[in-house]
Amino acid sequence: MLRALSGQSSPVPPIWLMRQAGRYLPEYLKTRADAGSFLELCYDSDRATEVTLQPIRRFGFDAAILFADILLVPHALGQKVWFEVGEGPRLEPLQSSEQVARLNELDLFHDNLAPVYETVRMIRAKLPATTALIGFAGAPWTVATYMIAGRGKDNQTGAKAMMKNDPLTFERLMHRLENATVEYLSKQIAAGADTVKLFDSWAGALAGDEPLFRRWCIEPAERIVARLRERHPDTPVIVFPRGADRLYGGYARSVGAACVAIDEAVSPEWARDVIQPVAAVQGNLDPHHLVGLGEGLEAAAERILETLSGGPFVFNLGHGITPDADPRNVERLVRFVRG
Ligand code: CP3
Repeated sequence: MLRALSGQSSPVPPIWLMRQAGRYLPEYLKTRADAGSFLELCYDSDRATEVTLQPIRRFGFDAAILFADILLVPHALGQKVWFEVGEGPRLEPLQSSEQVARLNELDLFHDNLAPVYETVRMIRAKLPATTALIGFAGAPWTVATYMIAGRGKDNQTGAKAMMKNDPLTFERLMHRLENATVEYLSKQIAAGADTVKLFDSWAGALAGDEPLFRRWCIEPAERIVARLRERHPDTPVIVFPRGADRLYGGYARSVGAACVAIDEAVSPEWARDVIQPVAAVQGNLDPHHLVGLGEGLEAAAERILETLSGGPFVFNLGHGITPDADPRNVERLVRFVRG
């Protein structure tokens, strides 16, 4: 994994999958039930370590991803966050400049996230030496959309409205999130993460407007990557501007991260020609191939492998594994990529 992130290619690329620890695994569901709730699971270092390791034991992936959530940052900043079972995240919507001004300052932010850093230390101590540990955070734009709307549906409209109607408050929030993200990722690296990934899952909501995309997706990622590189020059960063579409290439060139993760809408041939010359590529099998009988799984994986294995490449999905995925298809995929 780390060789691929450093720009080397290999006939057998490393493989891990987004949301590899999650609801499609019976052992995950059991640990989550024991923990009480999803948030309690995230802050329980023993159990979070256990669910991080479950897919490594079962499938032998080349990388483990820290078990946590992008919404722990708003929670640590003092916003009310909870998860409705079967529905997803809920937050007390952030709508006034007073609410934004009241967000916690850095020191309290770190205390609140101390269990996450402890989890990173515990996972690294238990992982095989040849398995990389990925830390992560949400990108400021994506986290802001949840903080402003209070939920995950139509959550871009609220953030876009604040951007227009109260630009100073929006800017203040984005600035606050950018600093928090640098501190949070930096602490994960100090605790033992071998690489960190920045998830901009809602980047696509700004892709129709290039100046806005540049200002609120590209530029914050550029600064976050540069500040992390200053503190941790040997730690590669993976970026994921999901849905960036035709703006993927400009994003990859400007941000200068070691690796760019692509969603399933990006053609592997285009990624090979445009992104691979400037960064390692990670992706991008459609997660629906892991559901049901997995028809077409090998053929779809083959096209991606054939196209991207000539350069630095990490095999992954275009987005997270869905709860209805069949673990046997995951096993089949790992066997196929390795074979
Ligand atoms: O295995 C892993 O990938 C590591 C853990 C991880 C989780 N969330 C655990 C989780 C990671 C990297 C995330 C990132 C995350 N969280 C993102 C960015 C990536 C993406 O999917 O776009 C986003 C947008 C979130 C916010 C979030 N958390 C949503 C929208 C939801 C509900 C929808 C869903 O997929 O369940 C969550 C809940 C969540 N985060 C679960 C898990 C395992 C399911 C919770 C449960 O057990 O019920």
